Amino acid sequence: MDYQAVLEEVADAVAPQIGRGQAAGYIPALAAVDLGGFGMALADVDGSVTGVGDWQVPFSVQSISKAFGLALVLAQDGENLWGRVGREPSGTPFNSLVQLEYENGIPRNPFINAGALVVTDRLQSLTGDASTTMLDFLRAESGNPQVSFDPAVASSESDHGDRNAALAHFMASYGNLDNPVQTVLDHYFRQCSIAMSCRDLALAGSFLARHGLATDGSRLLPAREAKRINAVMLTCGTYDAAGDFAYRVGLPGKSGVGGGILAVVPGRCTLCVWSPGLDMRGNSVAGVAALDAFTSLTDWSVF
Ligand code: DON
Repeated sequence: MDYQAVLEEVADAVAPQIGRGQAAGYIPALAAVDLGGFGMALADVDGSVTGVGDWQVPFSVQSISKAFGLALVLAQDGENLWGRVGREPSGTPFNSLVQLEYENGIPRNPFINAGALVVTDRLQSLTGDASTTMLDFLRAESGNPQVSFDPAVASSESDHGDRNAALAHFMASYGNLDNPVQTVLDHYFRQCSIAMSCRDLALAGSFLARHGLATDGSRLLPAREAKRINAVMLTCGTYDAAGDFAYRVGLPGKSGVGGGILAVVPGRCTLCVWSPGLDMRGNSVAGVAALDAFTSLTDWSVF
């Protein structure tokens, strides 16, 4: 397949969508971003990478980091995590508090904020430095040593982090955090602040398309664990829009309020698209449209 031609066709098809939606206003450092950006990259399982538009421009990965956090915990700790977090779609916004009390401090899944805080807590216990462990992993898998935290984004989110703090304290009250709340929040905000391009993220997520094999050919995860992460991405990766995303795109995907979406065609390639205008559920308007166009053009979906 001529990937460059396909990506250019996708970019042309979604051009009218670029600039629609809104930036993530609840994190002031993200609110000022120019809504006109759009990039898309495709990393083939053979390691080659192709892109269009702003595919080499770094943006804030935000919740896309949650997919990597889950992978790192499953790689180091097997299935133990699932006693502390579920794997059902929540049907509620990513930062919702409402289910936590009914469900005794056990978040529905690892991709809503509450679940990701539990994953960060576990990674912190396993490694002693959750966010640096993730940064090192992302540098290695993307092959880009420039990948970094964005301290301005991390502190902006921390300064406006009352809702995440509420989720963390509430779970701590149920004994579902092992580390101090502030430690968990600091590492969570730092991991969300990591700045990467579509190119970097498509490469870093390659293990999800390579059935658990890292970019150097070593085994990061058993194939069944890569399958499981992809399954949770499909059912929970875009929050209360996961049903619509599966319907339109038909691929496992993980979005972030920086406007990025990582999507996986198992056995073939990893895609990352970025455009900062978000819909009401926090997913990139042009990003979802681009993945929809990609799977429609190529017939590459999991269905
Ligand atoms: O915790 C937050 O609210 C952000 N750091 C991440 C949320 C996010 O990216 C949700 N994604 N669509």
